[in-house]
Amino acid sequence: MIRSVSVFGLIAVALGLVVVPSLPAIAEDEGERFPPIKHEATLKECAACHMAFQPQMLPQRSWAAIMGDLANHFGEDATLAPDVQKDITDYLVANAADARGKSRWMRRIAATETPLRITETPAWIRAHAEEVNPARFTDPKVKSKANCMACHRGADKGYYEDD
Ligand code: HEC
Ligand code: HEC
Repeated sequence: MIRSVSVFGLIAVALGLVVVPSLPAIAEDEGERFPPIKHEATLKECAACHMAFQPQMLPQRSWAAIMGDLANHFGEDATLAPDVQKDITDYLVANAADARGKSRWMRRIAATETPLRITETPAWIRAHAEEVNPARFTDPKVKSKANCMACHRGADKGYYEDD
């Protein structure tokens, strides 16, 4: 088996094919970083005023805090029936940035901090600091940092790389 692989390798080299090394760093961290939300209640209730933000963008304690104070939700009352609230909370917490160990997105958030905004997390700030002129966030077509879809047309599908 090993022999046939190396023979293939030799043939590939002989044919001038570039042997592309596998991409472990990318596969591990970037693969399904922000998969599209399929949870029904979250899509229904949390995409009414803005896109439904992927749970992988905040730690568990942040989602618990946000879901625990929906009556005072960034100046809006987003209160839900208790069973729906619990269903959504369970989904967000189970899929949070730190639900399966610390993701790269999560790593820089201090353990003492509970960010209530994705746009205030170090990873988000860093991803945008160099690439985005701050004036773009107040552009009438964008209005807010939280308006991900204005710049990332595939944000609700989990695509953020190709804007
Ligand atoms: C009644 C409207 C409304 C509903 C429903 C609503 N939100 Fe929001 N949400 C807002 C507003 C307004 C903001 C602030 C947007 C801004 O700063 O531009 C916000 C912001 C957020 C942010 C922070 C975005 C950032 O800046 O990183 C999160 C996270 C969030 N909402 C989660 C949720 C979740 C989870 C649900 C479902 C339980 C939900 N929202 C439902 C109105 C709503
Ligand atoms: C004013 C436009 C704008 C807004 C609004 C915006 N972004 Fe971005 N974002 C960018 C640009 C430009 C980049 C850097 C280029 C790239 O990687 O696509 C970027 C990069 C990113 C990256 C890193 C991509 C990667 O390859 O690692 C993520 C993740 C991201 N944004 C998420 C968000 C989320 C979530 C929101 C909303 C809460 C948001 N962005 C709002 C313009 C924006």
